[in-house]
Amino acid sequence: MVISGKELSARLKAEMAEQVKTFPAKYGRVPHLVVILVGDNPASVSYVTGKAKASEAVGIRNTTIRKPESITEAELLDIITALNLDDEVDGILVQLPLPKHIDENKVIEAIDKSKDVDGFHPLNVAALWQKQPCTLPCTPKGIIKMLKAAGVEIAGKRAVVIGRSNIVGLPVSKLLLDENATVTIAHSRTRNLGEVTRQAEILVVAIGRPKFVTADMVADGAVVIDVGVNRDPETGKLCGDVDFAAIEPKASVITPVPGGVGPMTICCLMENTIECFLKRRK
Ligand code: GUN
Repeated sequence: MVISGKELSARLKAEMAEQVKTFPAKYGRVPHLVVILVGDNPASVSYVTGKAKASEAVGIRNTTIRKPESITEAELLDIITALNLDDEVDGILVQLPLPKHIDENKVIEAIDKSKDVDGFHPLNVAALWQKQPCTLPCTPKGIIKMLKAAGVEIAGKRAVVIGRSNIVGLPVSKLLLDENATVTIAHSRTRNLGEVTRQAEILVVAIGRPKFVTADMVADGAVVIDVGVNRDPETGKLCGDVDFAAIEPKASVITPVPGGVGPMTICCLMENTIECFLKRRK
């Protein structure tokens, strides 16, 4: 079975749109998401455009602030401070990566925790690892939603995550653990990676290398979640971290690229924006 993140996210966005329609009467306005994009990295521009389109579909107000690569760290921090203080702003997202002269950690820490729709603020990260209420990072949250929508039982399963980033690998490992999977985190220094991945009943791949996972690395009947967004060096087309054509026949469930995890990430960003809006109204 191929899980369409595109279809699932369209359904969830339609439901959110119905919910958001009721907000002006209840709260006087709709949620407002501000996205900051520094520079003109094509992938980042495309992600930010996707976020604006999804906001429009859900009825969320979206402001995208574009700044040149040359912006100083102090200038960026000033913008964030102003947005933190602006009561008409519910969510703040700074598109990563940032130029080298800007300290990403400093920028993430500057965002008010209650407006941190990415769930990247250290206080949100700490809350996640202590199983306290928090904003969940969008990609990991979307992955768990897809698994549940596909009827995948997570509890008791052997899950292997390839990748240990703050954005995907670490938080998705924690969410799988919270669903009672037995989780292994593999990475670039893992020895005999194929031996490890062949043990996986659920395999999550977030390594950022085109078609890195080959058919011999995957057990028959495994559930395969592909987080990669790469250009195929041969065809120039978008492709995942997983060799989809070779693995689809042996996987019980697999996500495509494009149209898999990506749309779910944006969908969860919409959900997080609504959650931040509602929490701030209380
Ligand atoms: N760059 C790649 N993924 C993400 C994400 O989920 N959030 C932000 N802010 N930047 C990213």
